[in-house]
Amino acid sequence: MTANTIAINQQMDAFNGHHSVWLFGYGSLIYKADFPYLERRPACITGWTRRFWQGSHDHRGTPDAPGRVVTLIEQAGAVCHGMAYLITPEVFAHLDHREKNGYLRLAISMSFTDASKVQGLVYIAMPDNSAYLGAASEQEIARQIARSAGPSGPNAAYLTLLAHALRELGQADAHIFEIEQHLTLLDRAE
Ligand code: SIN
Repeated sequence: MTANTIAINQQMDAFNGHHSVWLFGYGSLIYKADFPYLERRPACITGWTRRFWQGSHDHRGTPDAPGRVVTLIEQAGAVCHGMAYLITPEVFAHLDHREKNGYLRLAISMSFTDASKVQGLVYIAMPDNSAYLGAASEQEIARQIARSAGPSGPNAAYLTLLAHALRELGQADAHIFEIEQHLTLLDRAE
């Protein structure tokens, strides 16, 4: 699949006719809400886990030297915590552009902290997109993040802002925190 998903996401019609839609964010969408929203609530989804397995050609790297950003990987029983935003449909034009490097806008059920559930949307970069990098050890991922940068800035800032946002939410994520630790060690070794 092509790395630019704008045209595919524009066909997404699951919430046509709705005045507002819940969007679940689990990566930069937790800490960088550069779009208008009606409401913002901590939320989680089940059956998916957050991994730094997606390549970034347009934000935290370049096509020749991709950075690494998060996507969701299916895993039975896993719970992924993040932030949900209630948005109006016209906001998707901006979001589809921001998430165009391989992310598909897909329907998902999310739960809030009071255990209520809603149907909404999430951007997931599937393994068949051409920017996908896949699994690597946390140490290798940290090394790639340490040397990468793109139009949105250093890849390391994406990681540290995400780790900070998860701590603020009170949600530990072993994969993210381990990569952060490796990155700190690499910084000290310089
Ligand atoms: C998300 O944050 O929900 C998607 C991945 C990203 O933009 O970092």
